[in-house]
Amino acid sequence: MPNITIDGKTVEVEPGTTVIQAAEKLGIELPRYCYHPGLSIVGQCRICLVEIEKMPKPQVACYTPVTDGMVVHTQSEKALRARKDVLELLLVNHPLDCPVCDQAGECWLQEYYMRLGQYDSKMIEDKVKKDKAVDLGPHVMLDQERCILCTRCVRFCDEISKSHELGIFNRGDHAVLAPHPGRRLDNLYSVNTVDICPVGALTEKDFRFEARVWYLHSTPSICPGCSTGCNIAIHTNTERTHHAQGRRVVRLKPRYHPEVNQWWMCDIGRYSFKSVDDPSRLTAPMLRQDGQWIATSWEVVSEAVTHKIKTAGAERVGLWASPQLTNEDLFVLKKFADRLGLTRVAATLAPLQKPVRDNFLIKEDHNPNTRGLEFTGFPLDTQASADLLQQAADGKLAVLLIFYHDLTCAFAGEAVSRALAKVPTVVFIGPNHNATSAAAHFLLPAAAWPESDGTFTNFAGRVQRLRQAVPPLGDARPVWQILKLLGKPLGVIVPYLEAGDVFAALARENRAFAGMSYATIGELGHQSGEEAHAVKTRRLNQVPDKLRIVPIFG
Ligand code: SF4
Ligand code: SF4
Ligand code: FES
Repeated sequence: MPNITIDGKTVEVEPGTTVIQAAEKLGIELPRYCYHPGLSIVGQCRICLVEIEKMPKPQVACYTPVTDGMVVHTQSEKALRARKDVLELLLVNHPLDCPVCDQAGECWLQEYYMRLGQYDSKMIEDKVKKDKAVDLGPHVMLDQERCILCTRCVRFCDEISKSHELGIFNRGDHAVLAPHPGRRLDNLYSVNTVDICPVGALTEKDFRFEARVWYLHSTPSICPGCSTGCNIAIHTNTERTHHAQGRRVVRLKPRYHPEVNQWWMCDIGRYSFKSVDDPSRLTAPMLRQDGQWIATSWEVVSEAVTHKIKTAGAERVGLWASPQLTNEDLFVLKKFADRLGLTRVAATLAPLQKPVRDNFLIKEDHNPNTRGLEFTGFPLDTQASADLLQQAADGKLAVLLIFYHDLTCAFAGEAVSRALAKVPTVVFIGPNHNATSAAAHFLLPAAAWPESDGTFTNFAGRVQRLRQAVPPLGDARPVWQILKLLGKPLGVIVPYLEAGDVFAALARENRAFAGMSYATIGELGHQSGEEAHAVKTRRLNQVPDKLRIVPIFG
């Protein structure tokens, strides 16, 4: 295996490794625009130039394979001078947009100008004018003047989404990025092009002019959009509450995970945060009186609901769990159901319309935690749901507890209304109003997923962490805490103070979670059945995450 020395440090690498990759192994960060570890290498932008001994001219680090005994200098006068000159060339026609550019604060032209550039411009000519605010597709806007023609977005559409919408047209300083004639950038992964654009040429329509990135906070979490469980970062705006129309969650970004989603996420999952600060949120416990919703306290509503459950008796209480709930919620909910002796239990619905799916990331199951349901012992059979609705319609239920579901997604609206009208007490527990909550007698507001600590189990059995990015809205609470409140008068004691306590109990009592803790789950998740020491070894073998999570590096 070849040995390479970079800035005096030597490392042995696999044959075929490039200089930029060998530098990463040594923790040496080289600038880059066109290079992206998830895309083919084109060596186009030249910002990664380094000096290699015995080679007369500076070489591109991203394109040059390591040879045994190679000696590289990344900080020599020659290398620094070459990169500074490249940057000056890239900026010759770049507009002076920083004050109004959405990329400001996370732009790699700004970043490298401060690190490497800092030259006085020699330009006396006018800059070349190109089209601004080109509407590329449903989510992406292009500013051709800002584009540095790195072709990352073109390669993404050719190699990852394989939808081939974009190309570079014309020559020299008239070259522009544009869609092919008659095409729109409308594939299901289109916003990943914005993530990997190293400058402000591609911006997200939804986020444009909403908030300055330096006011945002980032929290690692998991996408709730389907059972893949893509790793994401939730970006929240809590410092400038007058920005983004007061929305706290302003965007989601993919987070690198080598085995789940690599650098990517789909557009459907990306906009799944819209319900979090939506006017449809339930923010206070409510009860219906004379056809009117009355906001009340948790004490009043829990006393009323538990009284109804007690007087109904276990045989006449139905419960609809949900694959949208966390493992922690499901663990406590199963205990709640078992201790009360409930047998009329359903969990999953078969949606009326076929959900979107593909052979890349998007799974047909648009729930994040169906495996969690399975592991905690809830029925996965959708027949259980049809049976429960029938039991409601037959007047066999006195109380029906519905967690999260909108039943009209799976059954005809009329059948749902008819069945719910036969149940004297319908309790809806969830974060948002829906067609089912409209027919309930009690509404119990649950915390939305960015407001909760906890875990989801993805389709492959990987348990991954959600972290609270913002506090629950109004009086909303995590479901396991709502069950703690409801359980007490019913004799179901939930002795946990934090989500971590719930998970520790889950790991002790349930074989599917054996050996797991929030520590072993960490940033990369813990595969069910995998020994804790194997998780640790796997982690040690991985490329340092630091180099992967800075946007331009992946
Ligand atoms: S739009 Fe961005 S990603 Fe695409 S070529 Fe231009 S600079 Fe590169
Ligand atoms: S593929 Fe699934 S988990 Fe990944 S971003 Fe899309 S919806 Fe979310
Ligand atoms: S040429 Fe190496 S990063 Fe572009």
